[in-house]
Amino acid sequence: MVRLGVNIDHCATLREARYRGIPNGEPDPIDAALASVAAGCHGITAHLREDRRHLQDHDIERLAKVLSVPLNFEMANTPEMLEVALNCMPAAVCMVPENRLEVTTEGGLDVEGQYKAITASVTRLQGEGIEVSLFVDPDAGIISASKQTGAHAIELHTGAYAAVASCDKARGIELERLRASSELANSLGLKVNAGHGLNYDNIRFLHEVPWLHELNIGHSIVSRALFVGFEKAVKEMLDLVIPEGQNQSPGR
Ligand code: PXP
Repeated sequence: MVRLGVNIDHCATLREARYRGIPNGEPDPIDAALASVAAGCHGITAHLREDRRHLQDHDIERLAKVLSVPLNFEMANTPEMLEVALNCMPAAVCMVPENRLEVTTEGGLDVEGQYKAITASVTRLQGEGIEVSLFVDPDAGIISASKQTGAHAIELHTGAYAAVASCDKARGIELERLRASSELANSLGLKVNAGHGLNYDNIRFLHEVPWLHELNIGHSIVSRALFVGFEKAVKEMLDLVIPEGQNQSPGR
């Protein structure tokens, strides 16, 4: 069964648009996380960016305390973020590249170029019992390098797929890259997650990709929640992520 991790970053984006630097602003991303859990999601994903443009340190601290499902903490590989992770002790860390000028995470990690630094952090985090996934483009060389770092998992960057999902031919090419990458990662013993740019429409073709353990989806769920509420938005996505009859999640 594929799991759904709900990324709540953009609930905080809305809050920060009005309440940057002011305590107790709304909407509270922790409420979004709790509503997602009530709807039956399998995990919560949260990215503390270096510029704190959406989630803040206190959000991560609260999430780590209140969640009854695993917290997947997205972070750049910096000493500051390593310290946050080791203080909060999330179930998992997803290591992502970060560029201050980007609107969202644009590409996967340069695992080969930053091999030593990534390996050191993977060793440190996993030594403390935090599972690390590396956010990577669907590329055989990068996936092999990911395995070498000792990371237990990868998260395949689905942004390129999402960008062409409405075009049959281009979608087929991107799906094949994801499929081959997932096969390779699984054969190397890596857990395979995926995410970025997934929505209520393009999710359906991802069933062609084998071995997927968890899909992390944020922007699309937060957008839909504006109209139907968080619980319904998450339930609707769960119905698309998990084929009928296969969901044993107690929250639904
Ligand atoms: N996975 C990773 C590693 C991400 O960086 C993001 C974006 O923060 C997501 C998943 C979720 O992407 P989206 O908001 O497009 O669903």
